[in-house]
Amino acid sequence: MADMTGQALLNVPGPQRTTFIQRTQAAYAIIRDSIGAQRELFRKYGPIVSIAVGGGTRVLSSQDVCPGSVILYGPELLRQVRTQHNTFHQNPLTGALHAQRANTPRLAPLNTFFVSLWGLHEDEHRRHRRLMMPGFHAKRINEYRDDMVALADEVMGRWKIGAPINLTQEMKLIAVRIMSKTLFGEDVGGEGTRIGSVLEQAVSQLANPVTMLLPHDVPGTAFHKMLNLIGEYENDIRKLIVRRLAAGNDQSDVLSMLLYARDAETDSALSDEEVISHVGALFAAGFETAANTMSWTLLILSQHPQIAADLMDELDGVLHGDAPTIEQLQHLPLLENVIKESMRVIPVVPNVYRSPGEDIEVGGYLLPAGTEIITSTYYTHHMPELYPEPERFNPQRWESINPSPFEFSPFSVGPRMCLGATFAMMEMKIVLAMLIQRFRLELLPGELINRRGFLVLMPTSDLPMLVNAQDREFERGVGGVVGNVREMVDLVD
Ligand code: HEM
Repeated sequence: MADMTGQALLNVPGPQRTTFIQRTQAAYAIIRDSIGAQRELFRKYGPIVSIAVGGGTRVLSSQDVCPGSVILYGPELLRQVRTQHNTFHQNPLTGALHAQRANTPRLAPLNTFFVSLWGLHEDEHRRHRRLMMPGFHAKRINEYRDDMVALADEVMGRWKIGAPINLTQEMKLIAVRIMSKTLFGEDVGGEGTRIGSVLEQAVSQLANPVTMLLPHDVPGTAFHKMLNLIGEYENDIRKLIVRRLAAGNDQSDVLSMLLYARDAETDSALSDEEVISHVGALFAAGFETAANTMSWTLLILSQHPQIAADLMDELDGVLHGDAPTIEQLQHLPLLENVIKESMRVIPVVPNVYRSPGEDIEVGGYLLPAGTEIITSTYYTHHMPELYPEPERFNPQRWESINPSPFEFSPFSVGPRMCLGATFAMMEMKIVLAMLIQRFRLELLPGELINRRGFLVLMPTSDLPMLVNAQDREFERGVGGVVGNVREMVDLVD
């Protein structure tokens, strides 16, 4: 189908949203709670649905023309959209606000914030990925093990037996310090908390619909606050780069690799803007994701006493209280399955966004160029055909299943697959193995635990946990969790 100008029309089924306000509300519902909003749509219309029939919506598109927003799930549809690199592009994650960028001091950070690899297509994307890749090869990552252990040890060393911690904050601190030390050559120490919180607040302003609707830099507005925050974030990244340059080129971390990289064909270096964009994006992509995966995993374990006991047996049997060596990491199958099962039930990046550069057929429908496509990892991971009793947390299922990369894709799949997947798996295994052997974390009663976040799924609660020495009293603190976390994973009453 096409309109009078010959432009293809979006004819994917979906609800009628006739007014601008209804369409904006529909887009905002996805930003506010993609899991909840998508459930209704998929239930009514099937595995490929438009959030407003006929289009006219925009959730995260930075394209000039966005005919509408389509959501889909299931391995075959994911395969089509995530693997055709030259057809399906990614957008800078600032979405429509990317158009506001300019070279004035206030707006310049919009050129770089959340752009990086997400703002590059086809060969340019491949070239930049190639430059970053050496920092993420398994051999290089193995060299980060000692720093990971030392930093996790330092943060956990401050915890007091019998006192509570805010688990999500502690996991973020561990993740941000590990990232900055291993990838950028400098432990930001306590400052990591500030960088993390600035980034989190910036993303929260970005997800505020008012920021999008009224992008005016006037004090008091959401857009103004967001510009302050991304300016501050970029400033921190700039300072890190300046210090790294002063320390000289030792090529032992990703930052110095980026600073001194030369393109093999043109011998050109990355511009300052490109380096800032990549470093800022690595931080953003790497620490919230790993930190929240560890937090969700520890929450789920605190509510599954038998699995926690089995895991403790495995860790104790192999590691005898020590941090894992690289070799030992290969001999902890239950730990690996616990993390995989946690990423299946709660994939912290629940959606992957793409948009086609040309008209293309997907799932039997013609999607006009520029249509934004939201591919749901979460709903693919919750398909009962692939995972019987999908909400049941059952690490044992991994002993008998071997899903394809389109059926299980917490790190996505295809040419844009997460660059830090091996790094993150190693980091999470080390931190969890050390933590669980040393402490038993007990969820404090009465916590309301909902999900939040539109790029990364995190708990609304800081997850206050009582720190106990590891006494194997796994039944304590089990039950009584309230909140929509229970829609994602079965928990006992
Ligand atoms: C549990 C932890 C993590 C999860 C679940 C995760 C997940 C993801 C997902 C789903 C994507 C989107 C891929 C796509 O668009 O198809 C992604 C992209 C990316 N991730 Fe991760 N990630 C994690 C940790 C990390 C870490 C630790 C780093 C870096 C140190 C990192 C760096 C990146 C980068 C650079 C991209 C963009 C790749 C590209 O567009 O080519 N991630 N990640």
